[in-house]
Amino acid sequence: MKNNIYIGGILMISLFLFQCKQTSNTGFGKVEVISPDDNQISPKKVSLGKKLFFDNRLSVNNEVSCASCHLPELAFTDGKIVSEGVEGRKTERNSPSLLNAGFLPTVMFDAHLPNLEQQVIVPIQEHVEMDMNMVDLIEKLRLIDEYQSAAKEIFNREFDAYVLTRAISAFERTLISMNSPFDQYFYEGNETAINESQKRGWKLFSEKLYCTQCHPAPHFTTYQAINNGLYADYSADEGRFRIHHDSTDIGKFKVPSLRNIEITAPYMHDGSFKSLKQVIKHYQVGGNQHINKDNRIVPFDITEQQEIDLLNFLVSLTDTSYMTEYR
Ligand code: HEC
Ligand code: HEC
Repeated sequence: MKNNIYIGGILMISLFLFQCKQTSNTGFGKVEVISPDDNQISPKKVSLGKKLFFDNRLSVNNEVSCASCHLPELAFTDGKIVSEGVEGRKTERNSPSLLNAGFLPTVMFDAHLPNLEQQVIVPIQEHVEMDMNMVDLIEKLRLIDEYQSAAKEIFNREFDAYVLTRAISAFERTLISMNSPFDQYFYEGNETAINESQKRGWKLFSEKLYCTQCHPAPHFTTYQAINNGLYADYSADEGRFRIHHDSTDIGKFKVPSLRNIEITAPYMHDGSFKSLKQVIKHYQVGGNQHINKDNRIVPFDITEQQEIDLLNFLVSLTDTSYMTEYR
């Protein structure tokens, strides 16, 4: 009950969020991260959000932080098929990368949450993740001097759910990774940033095959919820169907970005593919037959060399320059 009132409060607050733009410079050029009007980024806010993101005390047994499932060195994923929360309880899905999360028009695999602020409360309260009641958590965190005084200084209020969700989201909006060798080649004209095989792979990806229909540059996703024929039977996880119970949504998941794909294995919403080779095989045979499978996914032939080129191209999307903050 307490939770429902709290979530109601968050929804009310979100009604008053207006979007505004904020630019930052990357090797990719100028990119715009959209921050809500009431949550502009400041260095102090980001630093508070970062501390909270890495703080195990956000979980009921003081053992799980956001970073337990979103590790910086793995592009903020965890390398597991599905994640493990308090007491080793397993999540249903594979942990997505949080790099470039500031660009997400909708959040989660079901593409249903409108902003990062609202997402923060989900893992905190989820039984298999941090299993913390929000009201109890705020009481707990208010006792920590550092958090209480930062809340007063930055937000001019006591530490509360508003401060918690805003600070963590502000931190997430700074996680930008847009300076891969591919960016240096494609956007900056540096012909030697990627090799010949990677150039051929990009041509295949964007011209011969149909990958850019759903994974176009610069974000390598359209952010739409799509059924890519992963299964003929989605009863284990029906995807976006959960949100509106509309049967045309069965098996639809938000298209993931392919940035840093080299270091975010295993793949798909359920981590069912261990390698990129397996992913390519999936598309090569045209996926499995499902009534909602997107009709752009059709079988294709590629040679062994073309497969190598495609894999090499995908590796050119790795940019770990964000890691300077975490070493
Ligand atoms: C126990 C592991 C676990 C913990 C702890 C956890 N996450 Fe996640 N996170 C996941 C999984 C799994 C998903 C995918 C859920 C889905 O989409 O249904 C996810 C999804 C997300 C997304 C959506 C990304 C996208 O592309 O839509 C964001 C943002 C996020 N988490 C941030 C956080 C923050 C902030 C915290 C801490 C408050 C946190 N996570 C704690 C496992 C975890
Ligand atoms: C019609 C849209 C569509 C097309 C075309 C498409 N994909 Fe995807 N792709 C998706 C969706 C949706 C997912 C996530 C499915 C899931 O999680 O169940 C995905 C997932 C992936 C993943 C795993 C990402 C991750 O983080 O887990 C890779 C890699 C990938 N696609 C590569 C490709 C390649 C290579 C091509 C071209 C051969 C391609 N895709 C064509 C929609 C598409």
